[in-house]
This record gives sequence, structure tokens and C-alpha cells, in this order.
Amino acid sequence: MNKIVVVTGGAGYIGSHTVVALSDAGYTPVIIDDFRNAQPWIIDRIEQITGHRPAVFDIDCQDKVKVAKVFDQYETIFGLIHFAADKAVGESVNNPLKYYQNNIGSLCTVLKVAEERGVRNIVFSSSCTVYGAVSDPVVTENHPVKAAMSPYGDTKITCEKIVRFTQAVSDSMTAILLRYFNPIGAHPTALIGELPQGIPNNLVPYIAQTAKGVREKLTVFGNDYNTPDGTNIRDYIHVVDLAKAHVSALAYLSSKEKQICDIVNLGTGHGTSVLEIIESFEKVNDLKLNYEIGPRRPGDVEQIYADASKAKNLLGWTCEYEVEDALKHAWEWEKTIEKMETK
Ligand code: WQD
Repeated sequence: MNKIVVVTGGAGYIGSHTVVALSDAGYTPVIIDDFRNAQPWIIDRIEQITGHRPAVFDIDCQDKVKVAKVFDQYETIFGLIHFAADKAVGESVNNPLKYYQNNIGSLCTVLKVAEERGVRNIVFSSSCTVYGAVSDPVVTENHPVKAAMSPYGDTKITCEKIVRFTQAVSDSMTAILLRYFNPIGAHPTALIGELPQGIPNNLVPYIAQTAKGVREKLTVFGNDYNTPDGTNIRDYIHVVDLAKAHVSALAYLSSKEKQICDIVNLGTGHGTSVLEIIESFEKVNDLKLNYEIGPRRPGDVEQIYADASKAKNLLGWTCEYEVEDALKHAWEWEKTIEKMETK
């Protein structure tokens, strides 16, 4: 029997890789995406990789009538994975209402539709951003959620609470909140990957665009931090590993008799500095990167990486790729982008 999984934001970076992983695992993903931050031809690529073309509904997740129409096309829906959200930290500071309206409004609409139809397995895309500035860099799921440092982070904290409180009084829902660390890389086929709109905020897409000459040089935001080489440390996780964790999370939820709401960090469990990322990117791709050291970026956390043991123990999931693999795949993907139309 087809296990239908509705994936909101399923044409986006993590969403598209998760749709591939779901399809490869025998699920039937159904995409809801309004393509505000995704390219339509990504669907063709998903079909090329998996041999299956997912059903796609180009609608805004805040449109309850249209979202309900999608759910009502299917007799039984096995699960919902909710990615659809705006996610640029900097933009959220300048345009908070866009973030509160969309990120919270979309979740409430989709959860309501799912709850009304008794959809059981709910996976929510959250972020390590909820931890804020941490004193001990290795973070478990029990680390307190701090006051957000941006409206984006605040919407993630709020949305986690919405899922928790909704699940607590639901007769059907069981849920998991997945806190991503730093997703990087692209599918090994180089058919799907990250497509940042405008100037990339994140390190690895900026590095890839610099290597390709789209950007003149990379600025390292500070090398005077209290870390071995003075640059920030993060937990960079291959996007394919991250995608597969969603399949493991669904399997975990469906195996539970009891309804629960759990939280899991998704990271490699290792920290890598900005300079180490640059050096690895140069080495694995045999090139020299043009970069300079610049001032710190306001709001940057000095170092944070995951204690990944709960994901292993609870979901039976661990990363298969190394950071070097992700940097290789990021570059292979970046080299294909110039030949493609992006809106
Ligand atoms: C990583 C490191 C920068 C760009 C953000 C969001 C988080 C999540 C992942 C959604 C930092 C440095 C970066 C550059 C640099 N997104 N850097 N030069 O800030 O850890 O996390 O993306 O969930 O919510 O906050 O990722 O890639 O922006 O930065 O030196 O041009 O690279 O200072 O130390 P970040 P990032």
C-alpha cells in the first residue's frame, strides 16, 4: 500500500533531498510548495534521480482551503513533513512580520488540516538556532532553548511549542522536532542542491560561488574568537544524511504505540571551523579560494555542534558522509548551476 507523505516546502533545498530519500525508501511523497524559494525544474530532477515524479501542488501553505483539498485527495496520509518556511536570519531581522506571518501561519494551517484528518506522524523542521549562544559547544536536546537572537529563530522556537501543545491534546498525532545543525552539500548526482536566492548568507554556498567566480572573494567573519584557529565552529551535516534522518524519524514515529512528541538533534557530532571548511574545500576540489579575514558578523555564535547520540539511539540513524564529501558535492553541483535558468 502506498504510504503517502505530504512534504511542505518539498521543492526546496532540504525538502527536495528528503523527497528523494522518501521515494528511495518506498514512500509516496506529495509536495506542497509555492516555489517562492525553489525552482520548478527541481521536480524534473527528482524524477530523474528516483524514476518517480511526485505529485506537486503549487500553493501557499497559509491557504487552508487549498491545503485541505490536497489532503482530501488521499484516503490515508501516512505522515506530514513540514519544511515550508522563510529561513534567512538576516532578512528576518529587517522584515520580522513576514517571518512571523508566514512561518507561524503556515504551520498552524497545515497542522490544523492534518489534525482534522487524523494524520498521525508529524515531522517538524527545526533548527539548532533555538539553542542561541551556548556556553558548552556540544549541545544535547536537553540544552535550554534560549531567547531567540532573530525573528527567524523566534519562529522556530514558537513553532516547536505549537507542535508540542497541539500534539499533547490530539487524539491521533505523534510528533518529532528535528533540530538541524548546518546542512551543506548536494545530491551526489549533482542534479539537486542548494539554490540560494541573491547573495548567499551561508558559508558553503558563498564559498562555492566564490570558487566559480560569481563572487569576487569570501570574507571570513572574524578570526579572533576563542577557538583553536580563531574562527567560528559549526556542525556541518551532509544534506543527504539529513534527508535520510527524516525517513528514520517517520519509521520511529510509526513504530510507537504511544503518542509522543520528541526532539532530536541532527548533526555529525563534530565541529569544524570556518578556516577548516575553506582548507577542506580547496583540498578536496583541488583549487585555491580567494578569501580575506573581515570583521565579526553580529549575532554569530562562537561555536556549537551536536551531541548526536540521541539520533543514533532513538532513530538508529548516523551520518554516512564526511564534511569533505559534502564540500565535493557542493562544488560539483555549483558547477552545473551556470547552465540553468534561475528566476
Ligand atoms: C557559518 C559560519 C559565519 C558566511 C545559519 C542559521 C541557522 C541555519 C544554518 C536554518 C559562521 C561564517 C558565513 C560568510 C563567514 N539555517 N561565515 N563568511 O550562521 O551557523 O547558521 O544557517 O536553519 O538557523 O543561523 O550558518 O553558514 O551563515 O555561517 O565567515 O560569508 O560561517 O560567521 O561562523 P550559521 P552560516
